[in-house]
Amino acid sequence: SDIEKGPYPHYMLKEIDEQPVVIRKVISKYQDAAGELVIDSEIRACMKKADRIYIIACGTSYHAGLAGKQLIERIADIPVETHIASEFLYNRPILSPNPFFIFISQSGETADIRGVLVDIKQMGHSSLTITNVPGSTLSREATYTLLTHAGPEIAVASTKAYTAQIAVLAILAFDSARAKGIQIDVNPAHELSIAANAMEIMINHKEVMEEIVWQYLNDSHNCFFIGRGVDYYACLEGALKLKEISYIQAEGFPGGELKHGTIALIEEGTPVIALLTQAQVRANIRSNVQEVKARGAHVCMISIEGIAEKEDHVILPAVHEWLTPLVSVIPFQLIAYYAALYRGCDIDKPRNLAKSVTVE
Ligand code: G6P
Repeated sequence: SDIEKGPYPHYMLKEIDEQPVVIRKVISKYQDAAGELVIDSEIRACMKKADRIYIIACGTSYHAGLAGKQLIERIADIPVETHIASEFLYNRPILSPNPFFIFISQSGETADIRGVLVDIKQMGHSSLTITNVPGSTLSREATYTLLTHAGPEIAVASTKAYTAQIAVLAILAFDSARAKGIQIDVNPAHELSIAANAMEIMINHKEVMEEIVWQYLNDSHNCFFIGRGVDYYACLEGALKLKEISYIQAEGFPGGELKHGTIALIEEGTPVIALLTQAQVRANIRSNVQEVKARGAHVCMISIEGIAEKEDHVILPAVHEWLTPLVSVIPFQLIAYYAALYRGCDIDKPRNLAKSVTVE
């Protein structure tokens, strides 16, 4: 059944492996009879009418929300702000005249998000919950729901729910673009399938990430992840995964910001994982890598076909530049998994954490 580990030692590893199948399932769930990816017409109308989208989430879902901001802005040309739910509630930004709210929550039960939902409902705004759990509180209380169809996620550290959330956000962005008459010169279902295949290739090469953990994280107590733009967002998730399950202190940083402070922490042997999937920032990230290397950092470079150099440690299969967050997170999830495994950590139930947090 869906919720048995089968031959897997941990739910987390099983859930990492399920991701390509989940993405293919998301594609099929949102396809109409003609094979076109479509979103419910009422949600489409809200997206079209909105002058600004407010994405509200926590933890890993917040990182999916950051990826969603990039997708909706780049594909559908609608301004998006992504906020941490607990911050939004007490430090509410000045809202645009026609806001539309998107809540992202694997469980659909997170209290911090519910606080925002209650608040914006009182103001008369409509909202959409993107969740993995049909009938959950946030699904019932928001105006609309889109399901992520990832199946039950048991490991506390979220993996397949995150990539499913990003896939649904991509479908929403493509649908909104079409509704706004924006010409998209790619076939969304096809590009998402290419991403699912690329995820599968990474999953089939776990030994590469296992080796990286031996080489870079064997007895380190900290680790930095650097990237720019959407890769920076992926780095935040990479750092969170590592912190959550291996307890290694990890931070994700924008490459350009290192020199304004954080580079002070780089010393001989400090592990730095650099991510480069966007051609636009190619030269900048390569020069950031030189800067940290010159100060002794032990750099693991993750890049993507097309802009890779042969000495890079991990090369992701080519996917559309909009969809790289689906693929770049796979090595991060696996690095966290193996780091936790070698440290003997309780991977599926890390200390101090709960799968669903129903207190504010
Ligand atoms: C908890 C979990 C995280 C999760 C966050 C948001 O803190 O430990 O893994 O990302 O809640 O959960 P949600 O169900 O709202 O996505």
